[in-house]
Amino acid sequence: MAKIPYFVPDISAKEIGAVNKVLCSRWISAGNILSECERKFEKKLNVNKGHCVGVSSGYSALYLSMLLAGIKKNDIVLMPNINFVASMNAAKQLNARIKLVDSESKFNPNISINDLKKKLSSKVKAIIVMHYGGYPCDMHELLKLKKKYNFILIEDSCHAIFSKYQGKTLGSFGDFSAFSFYANKNITSGEGGMLYCKKAKDVKRAKLLKNHGLNTNSFLHKNQSFHARYDIKETGFNFRLDDLRASLLSTQLDNIEKKNKIRYKIFLEYKKNLKKNKKINILFSEYSTNEYSRHLFVIKTNFKKLLEKKLKKNGISYSCHYKPISYLSAYKNKEKFPNSKNLFETIISLPIYPKLTKNKISKICDIINSI
Ligand SMILES: Cc1ncc(COP(=O)(O)O)c(C=O)c1O
Repeated sequence: MAKIPYFVPDISAKEIGAVNKVLCSRWISAGNILSECERKFEKKLNVNKGHCVGVSSGYSALYLSMLLAGIKKNDIVLMPNINFVASMNAAKQLNARIKLVDSESKFNPNISINDLKKKLSSKVKAIIVMHYGGYPCDMHELLKLKKKYNFILIEDSCHAIFSKYQGKTLGSFGDFSAFSFYANKNITSGEGGMLYCKKAKDVKRAKLLKNHGLNTNSFLHKNQSFHARYDIKETGFNFRLDDLRASLLSTQLDNIEKKNKIRYKIFLEYKKNLKKNKKINILFSEYSTNEYSRHLFVIKTNFKKLLEKKLKKNGISYSCHYKPISYLSAYKNKEKFPNSKNLFETIISLPIYPKLTKNKISKICDIINSI
């Protein structure tokens, strides 16, 4: 066990109490608590009421987005090469033709607008962008391009709960957006996700698809006391989120701003401790206001291997976000992505979570400053 883990979920007694309450109610699958959580979520996202749908994971939110966007065999879909694999897997499962896009620069892993422009045409069905670490992609340019080429925009906002771009919440720009509540996310239910759909007709279909295609659900059965009358409108999935998980999320949503502010303070503390170090750069270091979820704290160094060795020796966990998709065995691609390549060779993600103390940050920085 590492002395300083990469991530520790922050679960308070209040959250445990909320789960306990659901357990005691004897209604543990999707019901009122999930609805309450969805309404809270869309209020914080600042989107229309009723447009967020709780689902089983970030992946299921991405998959449903693509399905609802009408992506089918041979449709062209663009997405960043530095990316979690979920979007790639989902698009592959729909047999789309995927074009990967390089990172903005050697210091910014977000999707490159220049490379995107080279690969864009009116034939592109959808673009999936991912707000790396909760730092915004260039939404101004993306919306301009969307107007010109009329593609569907899907935001992978799994890191970005609730970052802002020019005052507007990330995840509310696109036609669809996906959030994850996996254990290492800013709010978590172990597994879970949220799908936002701009159009009401997509919300309706998402609710059907996530529940096997059923035109009803067990909560309606319970409340309306009708039995055995149901229909399957189309082939569906089980992508459901339950009240147990929703109770954890709903409670955490009440103080997400406070938790994100603690992450901001951690970001500032790291910055202060690493100020004099000429051998590293901090990604997004210039994003200095408290408007971002600060899901990741990533440094860049030409001494990555040496630093990894030292961190390992001192029991400090770290990660790398991400190995480029073009390097993954399932998706090997010989195209050149110079910025993604450089980033992969130089970046290290360091621990960042509300329970990380100043003392621990100081220990981590001492090691970084010793290279
Ligand atoms: C950027 C990004 N996209 C998608 C996902 C997939 O989410 P989940 O693991 O909940 O399916 C994750 C989570 O790990 C993620 O970090």
